[in-house]
Amino acid sequence: LVLVLDFGSQYNQLITRRIREFGVYSELHSHKLTAAEIKEMNPKGIILSGGPHSVYGEDSFRCDEEIFELGIPVLGICYGMQLMSLHFGGKVEASKNREYGKALIELNESPALFKDTPTKQTVWMSHGDKVTAAPPSFIVDATSPSTPVAAISDQDKKMYGVQFHPEVRHSEYGNDLLNSFVFDVCKCTGDWTIANFIEMETEKIKETVGDRKVLCALSGGVDSSVVAALIHKAIGDQLTCIFVDHGLLRKNEADDVMDVFAEDFHMNIIKVDAKDRFLSKLAGVSDPEKKRKIIGNEFIYVFDDEAAKLKDIDFLAQGTLYTDVIESGTDTAQTIKSHHNVGGLPEDMQFELIEPLNTLFKDEVRELGSQLGIPDRIVWRQPFPGPGLAIRILGEVTEEHLEIVRESDAILREEIAKAGLDRDIWQYFTVLPNIKSVGVMGDARTYAHTIGIRAVTSIDGMTSDWARIPWDVLEKISTRLVNDVDNINRVVYDVTSKPPATIEWE
Ligand code: XMP
Repeated sequence: LVLVLDFGSQYNQLITRRIREFGVYSELHSHKLTAAEIKEMNPKGIILSGGPHSVYGEDSFRCDEEIFELGIPVLGICYGMQLMSLHFGGKVEASKNREYGKALIELNESPALFKDTPTKQTVWMSHGDKVTAAPPSFIVDATSPSTPVAAISDQDKKMYGVQFHPEVRHSEYGNDLLNSFVFDVCKCTGDWTIANFIEMETEKIKETVGDRKVLCALSGGVDSSVVAALIHKAIGDQLTCIFVDHGLLRKNEADDVMDVFAEDFHMNIIKVDAKDRFLSKLAGVSDPEKKRKIIGNEFIYVFDDEAAKLKDIDFLAQGTLYTDVIESGTDTAQTIKSHHNVGGLPEDMQFELIEPLNTLFKDEVRELGSQLGIPDRIVWRQPFPGPGLAIRILGEVTEEHLEIVRESDAILREEIAKAGLDRDIWQYFTVLPNIKSVGVMGDARTYAHTIGIRAVTSIDGMTSDWARIPWDVLEKISTRLVNDVDNINRVVYDVTSKPPATIEWE
């Protein structure tokens, strides 16, 4: 374990990410951990992250300074380096001008952690304060014109500091530096794999659960599928899943979930056919927010009704990911209870939560799913909103409208997969804008629906660009849509990015 202490930098999640890429397990924790708690965790190294505060600010984050006396190697990054410098008697000066962006540093003679990298290298700086005098026992390893003390070390104490951000890709040799800290200094072995994780985590689940019972809301999405498969591997039939089919899923989706998890994995799954319940609540409703609210609430009622029928359930399993925890701030990570992966769960449930994925990133969860034997079509499933197809139908959700989006979505997915584009495009789906227009088919006038194609590239769904699907692929899709789906005579392509549009139309 390499422990990263969080002082609030926007990049600290990247630090753990980079270290795990080396095959070394790394976790981000609050800067409030005490030296005793850290000793208990027995990390091979500690990294102090950057942070937005000034070390001289009134409410600036501090750490337990005894961590510098544990004999565990420490790498301080930016703010972390400043804290380290202050502790060992160096000088940190506040400055009003922030240095932000690329900078060129020059290495001094035989600098620690920089082995085999060029004497001059580009790094990414993002700081206000800076160290102006290294602590007495430290040497300065690198300088830049505006930051004379850009890297420091005391190799006897195994203390290292860099003012720049090695975890950011713009730091040309940042990865080499982290690698050197993790392997040369901390002596990590680099044998952490997802297979280890499965072994460790199933043991942990068995220990926590004992002979008690766990409930899981399965949606067929990546996270809930992987969490269910992992827990099932650990405790088998002590796990019960509730799968609410709200009738707003994509073509064959509900059957597929049951085929994979009930048939192949032999999980206990209660499938609730709630289509009529949802559709009758949605009848006559066109307002997007009202639709979302109705679906969210109804989901809770249905889940609650089913859960109430079960006896002796002690735990509720959720597919909370590391990013969900971090986005809520590691300081508050312990109190997070309400990450809703399946459109929201009852707030007042009397269960203990188990969240075995809450140290993993999305791509690690996919890898885990593959290793647990979940098929690619689920592991690599594109994001799908909790309210489902209902928010891809503008206006009222009716059986007829659902049929059009469901069929057209299936055709679009089939053609995108055939063209080999399914892993390049973040999300692709059809929308029914509730517009009818005039067309001509077989010499006869038609008056039918328009279908919209939405396809976007994105990293995290926060922003996106419209995907440039090749024209010949679009042509095939368009032809199939009008020929194979009843009641469509026109196809349009959404060419807006987010912002200003959103990915979904509602
Ligand atoms: P927007 O439309 O806001 O979507 O650009 C961003 C991402 O979030 C997904 N999305 C949802 N996911 N429940 C979900 O679980 C929802 O209510 C919901 N609304 C949007 C959307 O598909 C896209 O990936």
